[in-house]
Amino acid sequence: MLGQRRIAVFGAGYIGLVTGACFAKLGHEVVVRDIQQERVELLQSGGVPIHEDGLASLIAENADHLTFTLDAEEAVRDAEVVYVCVDTPPTPSGDADLSRIWQVIETLRDARHLAAVVVKSTVPVGTGARVRAAMDEAGLQDVGYASNPEFTAEGKAVRDFMHPDRVVIGADDPETAKLVALLHEGVDGPIAEMDVRSAEMVKLAANALLATKISFTNEIATICEATGADVEHVVRAVGLDHRLGPHFMRPGVGWGGSCFPKDSRALRAMAGNAGYSFQLLTSVIEVNDLQPRRAIQRLKDELGGAFHTRTVALLGMAFKPGTDDMREAPSTIIASRLLSEGAAVRCWDPLVGELDAAPWSSTTRCATPLEAMTGADAAIIVTEWPELQDVAWDQVAAVMARPLVFDGRNLLDPQRMAALRLTYMSVGRTTVR
Ligand code: UGA
Repeated sequence: MLGQRRIAVFGAGYIGLVTGACFAKLGHEVVVRDIQQERVELLQSGGVPIHEDGLASLIAENADHLTFTLDAEEAVRDAEVVYVCVDTPPTPSGDADLSRIWQVIETLRDARHLAAVVVKSTVPVGTGARVRAAMDEAGLQDVGYASNPEFTAEGKAVRDFMHPDRVVIGADDPETAKLVALLHEGVDGPIAEMDVRSAEMVKLAANALLATKISFTNEIATICEATGADVEHVVRAVGLDHRLGPHFMRPGVGWGGSCFPKDSRALRAMAGNAGYSFQLLTSVIEVNDLQPRRAIQRLKDELGGAFHTRTVALLGMAFKPGTDDMREAPSTIIASRLLSEGAAVRCWDPLVGELDAAPWSSTTRCATPLEAMTGADAAIIVTEWPELQDVAWDQVAAVMARPLVFDGRNLLDPQRMAALRLTYMSVGRTTVR
């Protein structure tokens, strides 16, 4: 195939695997390298360590030009382009820990045959300049450098990669920009070319604005509760303004996941390091920290002011539907809080496996939502799994000790719930009984 390249992807996490599999689908020869033996062996034997729509079939269909290795040297030896997709976890101060990126650059020492090194990991602005300097120091002065941040959402990552709103390419020389653009031939989306620092900033700004929209909506929801307005009507009509759009305005118990919490703290820390206090983003984070706690408080008030001796069914654990990812899931805060206040917690999730760590080790896992609600004094919907719409809600009032449902994602219809003799609480809407 014309334009086919040999790409070494460093990191077999969500981003690395999706990037590797999609580049293979586009016809490139791809090797994905990771340091975790178990993960690499699983991939080598045809397994896929994460749940991501369409990923397993993509890996299987392209197995003849998509391989996995533990050996960094082997991965780099034949590569033309190295994609860095390692994680950049937060340090206690909120700054991104870039040590894994430096480890990758170290393994590239003297790999002068490379055409380019591309960083996809989310990094603070200015990281590219530091990587460039480290590459120069490692004898790679003639190898190009680019930033190519990802905008894929979990559960839709393959689709987002192949049909993106935009592909952002930040490169300091036109040749490298052209090379990275060519790698994306076959991707259905516009390319936005810019300098490296701006590309790094686009990623952080986009996630911060999405998080801001959600926190804003959640605050509007709180005011709706206090004033008797219905946030669903409000959001629908506000979103019809094409300048605002309907997306990321779903109220709920807060945003979680591996990206928004980490990236918003990283941007706040980065601004602070640059001498600027990012006040709006600080509030956006605070509103989100409060959101699950507010839900718990409202439920507690409804139960007469205490969770002690109560049983609560927690429906949905993953940070969003369609994934088994529990990173920074609001459910963890909710379960911890319920347990610490003396409640017994019965939880259900269709994808998340058994968890031994706290708080989940102190909860009871149930096979179905109805089983979780049986005998419970309250149920709280934390993740909007579509399966929850299909629950036999007409049986729920009969099986619960007290027919109280808190819908933390506004998944269900209040009138229908009230007709089924349930006390139904939700976010930004009047409680119905
Ligand atoms: C997010 C972004 O959507 C992607 O564009 C980005 O590439 C990715 O982060 C990343 O930086 O890697 P993701 O974390 O997978 O993707 O999940 P989202 O679908 O964005 O949801 C994030 C959180 O916001 C979830 O907890 C979700 O429940 C919550 N959310 C989302 C709301 O509470 N309300 C909404 O209206 C939308």
